[in-house]
Amino acid sequence: MGEGTVAPARLARPARPRRLRPPVATATVTLTVNDRPVEATVDVRKTLADFLREDLGLTGTHLGCEHGVCGACTVLLDGAPVRSCLLFAVQGAGHTVTTVEALSTGETLHPLQEAFRRHHGLQCGFCTPGILMSAYALLRDHPHPTEAQVLETLGGHLCRCTGYQGIVEAVQAAAGTGAGAEPPKG
Ligand code: FES
Ligand code: FES
Repeated sequence: MGEGTVAPARLARPARPRRLRPPVATATVTLTVNDRPVEATVDVRKTLADFLREDLGLTGTHLGCEHGVCGACTVLLDGAPVRSCLLFAVQGAGHTVTTVEALSTGETLHPLQEAFRRHHGLQCGFCTPGILMSAYALLRDHPHPTEAQVLETLGGHLCRCTGYQGIVEAVQAAAGTGAGAEPPKG
């Protein structure tokens, strides 16, 4: 190409039309929540926590951080404590979910709740449902936990308004009442 000549502009290729599959927006799931069979059609992106709160009205499960740090959203999945903000509702399909509402279904508190009440294991109470679910699983599996086991369990929960001492005392007191042997009622 000689001096003064201009290179021809490269012609851009026409963009190919993108072939995207239409998104699958919802799925129908069946699961058991607090001993109740549930069938629901849910947005596949909806978390288990939001499903429990918004679709089933079980607002006892609280949301703090929404990324697995604070423990406020803890529920039992097939008996094991899990962060419901980190699970999709569709992952609960075929499983059993137990929320704090199942600990006491009537006027009588579960012994664990009673121990929290007696030993000032709560202040604002926002973190309490998640702590109760983890503490329940601890006492069920270890009816007489050591203080280290209680502290390890509570280590997965952030409570912003107590020094934890009341919570530790409540869990230890509940252990003395055999709280782990009393299953959730719902
Ligand atoms: S809201 Fe799930 S861990 Fe904080
Ligand atoms: S009792 Fe308020 S955050 Fe724990």
